[in-house]
Amino acid sequence: MTIKTCVFDAYGTLFDVAAAARDAAREPGAERLAKAWPTLAADWRRKQLEYTWLRAITGEHTDFWSVTQDGLDWALDAQGLLGDAALRERLLNLYWTLPAYAEVPGVLADLKAAGFSTAILSNGSPDMLDAAVVSAGLGDMLDDVLSVESVGVFKPADAVYSLVTERFACTPDEVLFVSSNGWDASAAAGYGFITLWVNRAGDPMDRLGHPPHEMLTDLTPIPDIAKAI
Ligand code: LAC
Repeated sequence: MTIKTCVFDAYGTLFDVAAAARDAAREPGAERLAKAWPTLAADWRRKQLEYTWLRAITGEHTDFWSVTQDGLDWALDAQGLLGDAALRERLLNLYWTLPAYAEVPGVLADLKAAGFSTAILSNGSPDMLDAAVVSAGLGDMLDDVLSVESVGVFKPADAVYSLVTERFACTPDEVLFVSSNGWDASAAAGYGFITLWVNRAGDPMDRLGHPPHEMLTDLTPIPDIAKAI
């Protein structure tokens, strides 16, 4: 066994980022969201990520909570919903308690039982990540939660991936890195991690070089893959 540490992206990989808009759309009084939520959720996520990349390129770093709010404001604006302050507040509150995908606790427990170190490596700010981990009950199954805030730049900067090798005193090829973001899996593979791309949506592969070791549709096979490498 050459893998020592299994590291997970947070949003979209462990936590369901569409849940905030989907759940808010089911609440009384959210009629306009009932139709708009899939587009709103997709726009919110897309602009949130675009803002991280642009801020990494320009060097104008701000934390992930700020770009999460900025992305939401763009998405609300696109739907003509920017004036709905109560909806904005509700969506932002839900983002702090996003549910984990169903298979996540079992997979993390299996990895711990097999002796792997486990961690999150995320753009999320520490307080956002702590809230999500506590709310999903994952705290006991993670050795650490690493946030880009300690290096002040978003993924896919190399400095972010170096947080893992520094924290776990390991080489990149001893790390199994799991992300639902093709660009994140690609950059991590370029850094030297063994990567798994969790392609829940059935998207085409990103053309960025550094293809993943394997593409999965959910996290379930990860303990077996980690043991086999
Ligand atoms: C993260 C984003 C990229 O958790 O999903 O880092």
